[in-house]
Amino acid sequence: MRIYLIGYMGSGKSTVGKNLASCLGFQFLDLDHHFEERYRISILDFFDKYDENLFRSMERDLLHETGAFDDVLISTGGGTPCFFDNMKFIREHGIAIYIRWPAGMLAERLQNLRKKRPILKDLDPESLPEKISEQLAEREFFYGQADIIIDAGAFSPQQLTEILLKKIADFTDRG
Ligand code: S3P
Repeated sequence: MRIYLIGYMGSGKSTVGKNLASCLGFQFLDLDHHFEERYRISILDFFDKYDENLFRSMERDLLHETGAFDDVLISTGGGTPCFFDNMKFIREHGIAIYIRWPAGMLAERLQNLRKKRPILKDLDPESLPEKISEQLAEREFFYGQADIIIDAGAFSPQQLTEILLKKIADFTDRG
C-alpha cells in the first residue's frame, strides 16, 4: 500500500507523515528531501540557479518513481499534485490524504517558515495572506480530489495521526 499526503506548504505533512508512517510500520519518504538528496542541492538553491519549470519536471519524475515502492507513506511538496497529471498518478497509485487548513491559518504558520519556501520567501509579510489565499484557491481543485480530506485546524499532530489512522482503516475496509 502507498499513502500520499498532500496539502499546501506549512500544513504539517512531514510531521504528521512521520507519525503516521511509524504507526503503520511504513517507510516514510519526504519528496522534497528526496529531491535534495538525489540532486545534492537545496530546493531554495535550485530555484535560484534554475527555474520552477525544471523543478516541476524533475519532481514529476521522482513522484513516478514512488509507484515502485510498497508500504510507504510519501509526503509530497505543496505543488506536487497541481502539475501535469500528478494528481491522477497519485490517485491511481495510492491513497491520497489532503491535510486542509484555512488560508488565514496557513498564513500565520508560514510567517516564520516562508524563508525556506522559494515561492514565498521574497514576499513581504503583509502580502503573504493574499498570495496564500489566491494560490490555495487555485490548488483546491487538485487537493480536493483526495480520497480522504481532514480539516487540521483544531487538532494537535497526535490527534491528527489518530483520526487519520481510523480514516485509512475505514477507507481500506470499504475498498
Ligand atoms: C512548493 C512546496 C515545497 C517545495 C517547493 C514548492 C509549492 O514543499 O516542494 O518549495 O509549490 O507549494 P512543502 O510543501 O513541503 O513546503
